[in-house]
Amino acid sequence: MFQTQKTIENHRPQPGNQLRPGLEGVPVTQSSICDIDGNHGKLTYRGYPISELAAHSSFLETSYLLIWGNLPTAEELKVFEKEVQMHRRVSFRVRDMMKCFPATGHPMDALQSSAASLGLFYSRRAIDNPQYIYDAVVRLIAKIPTMVAAFQLIRKGQDPIQPRDDLAYSANFLYMLTDREPDPLAARIFDRCLILHAEHSLNASTFSARVTASTLTDPYAVVASAVGTLAGPLHGGANEDVIAMLEEIGSPEKARSYLDEAISNKRKIMGFGHREYRVKDPRASILQGLAEELFARFGKDEMYDVAKALEEEAATSLGSKGIYPNVDFYSGLVYRKLGIPRDLFTPVFAISRVAGWLAHWREQLGANRIFRPSQIYTGVPSRTWKAVEDRPTSIGA
Ligand code: SDX
Repeated sequence: MFQTQKTIENHRPQPGNQLRPGLEGVPVTQSSICDIDGNHGKLTYRGYPISELAAHSSFLETSYLLIWGNLPTAEELKVFEKEVQMHRRVSFRVRDMMKCFPATGHPMDALQSSAASLGLFYSRRAIDNPQYIYDAVVRLIAKIPTMVAAFQLIRKGQDPIQPRDDLAYSANFLYMLTDREPDPLAARIFDRCLILHAEHSLNASTFSARVTASTLTDPYAVVASAVGTLAGPLHGGANEDVIAMLEEIGSPEKARSYLDEAISNKRKIMGFGHREYRVKDPRASILQGLAEELFARFGKDEMYDVAKALEEEAATSLGSKGIYPNVDFYSGLVYRKLGIPRDLFTPVFAISRVAGWLAHWREQLGANRIFRPSQIYTGVPSRTWKAVEDRPTSIGA
């Protein structure tokens, strides 16, 4: 099951190895899951353009595609959907554990803890068993939304709402969150958001997932690692900060002055820029369209005009550096209109990205070599230990 990836070249650090901060541009694995053409703003999952999947697929069908490599047959999809539906509930032990979390804690910390706790319930040493892998994929895709919704209710002092078997995946999440069956258009648009966020090659959280997977630990620990990484404001956490930024700007007329002040103070504009894209993130364009669809039906969010004004102004001052809106710039406006609280935007990102993390987990197991990069040592040369009484009385003496 675990062939090790052959060493492409001598893996001993070569003299004069060039330091590559953030591993920028350094290929550390081979993958057939997702491809990004950053110069032309193209993104494909297993060869299918994201625009086609976001228009025609469902999140569960796209998850199946990412994890097992092909679109499912009608029978395969029906079985997968049924399995996920049957595994949505989480043990009372997990819910009781969440009741001990501080209500003021961030939902991403609650999710990371509860995702890791799932590993306590399922044997961890069976990762060479295809059935165990299938079951773990189903459990994580099924239970992550339930745990996100549960903490939302628990922190308000309410009992979690149990999943409804008669509702499809996305409708059920919105129902568990709001105790109301969502409008079919809202559920469909939310499902399309999940498709857009499901996978993005070796982003930071997926790299975390692969590094953790390479030690052959259990998939629950893999997902917990990735959740912790996604939480950062430079990664998945940006979608929360974008709304705060738009509210701080307040009106379209103030976008230019905000931008000038941020640039002169070398402050990053949240929701802009990307390591891969040199043009507007294709997901941002699709999410902008979904926002407009929601506004047409349910009324406009006044922050949308601020966002458009900021994008327009930024194009003149940041466009030349290849800095354009990324996936996080418009997603928050969609989630806000769907009634999702701001600090749940990143947990929603995690609900979706667990499909990509699991696809990379499986792929890593198929051709594994534990990640252990080298470093360039810049510390002090070797020195001899001294008893405390023989040491200088002040640091640096
Ligand atoms: C996600 O990797 C993925 O695929 C991630 C993701 C996914 O699907 O998994 O796409 C999801 O994480 C999207 C990104 C969300 N984060 C943000 O929106 C936070 C703001 N963006 C930046 O922090 C930044 O653009 C990053 C982190 C996204 C990318 O950073 P890089 O590639 O390391 O670029 P850098 O920080 O080295 O910046 C290069 C230059 C710098 O200027 P100079 O010092 O060279 O003059 O570009 C500037 C930066 O100051 N720059 C920005 C900027 N992003 C980069 N300037 C202003 N605003 C920004 N947002």
